[in-house]
Amino acid sequence: MRVTNMFINYAHRGASAYAPENTLSAFYLGLQMRANGIETDVRRSKDGHLVLFHDDTMEKTAGIPGGVKDYTLKELRHILIYGQPGFVPDHIVTLEEFLYLFGYRDLTFAVEIKERGVEEDTLNLIRKYKIADKCIFTSFDYPSLVRLRELDKEIRLGYLFKKLTAENLQAAADIRCFQVCPHVDALDREAVERLHRMGYSVRAWGIQDEEAMKRCLDAGVDGGMTINFPDKLTAALERPAEAVGLNG
Ligand code: G3P
Ligand code: CA
Repeated sequence: MRVTNMFINYAHRGASAYAPENTLSAFYLGLQMRANGIETDVRRSKDGHLVLFHDDTMEKTAGIPGGVKDYTLKELRHILIYGQPGFVPDHIVTLEEFLYLFGYRDLTFAVEIKERGVEEDTLNLIRKYKIADKCIFTSFDYPSLVRLRELDKEIRLGYLFKKLTAENLQAAADIRCFQVCPHVDALDREAVERLHRMGYSVRAWGIQDEEAMKRCLDAGVDGGMTINFPDKLTAALERPAEAVGLNG
């Protein structure tokens, strides 16, 4: 099991500020922008395939009713995923295709369980590609994390939540989370130091703009952040520390 705790620039659903989220275009663009991690979301199609898709429904990104659970993989293959105006639409990919294309690369993967019931098959596929040590399994859904811990005593779990509460931290401790992932607004230097003293890696989410990105860097998160614009994070990390605001 990989034990180092690096700061990871996770292309969030790929470089989703520039290409349709959770598609190959967005994932490759993330690598081009020198992200050293990719975050993605796992759901199941009507006929049981694990696919990468964020929303409950396909309305926002594909303009059609229902969720991926209402379509077979064959049907999903014909559906285009859109992003901002001007983005070239792209297709949904399966988790297995993603693992085949990206799993061997020197990246860290934040694999988010988006619906209950996909935990075991997700873990098995990741084991098939022998990359469990490059993954942090995350979810907002606590029972999904409990299920993953039941399935594997060693994998790294990251609990996603909005607020830093005693309940959330106790829940994370109960299943031996490696990482806690609060919303960026819940983090400042004091909070991060406290979480580090408790033994957690800290990773932030919800970074909507460069100001939040800088706040997050300033707070001293060590596990990185999921970010739609990994190019800006790459640039910030390459600037001298005082320019980024890391020195307070
Ligand atoms: O890093 C986790 C982040 O992806 C959580 O938000 O909405 O993308 O699932 P969301
Ligand atoms: Ca996600």
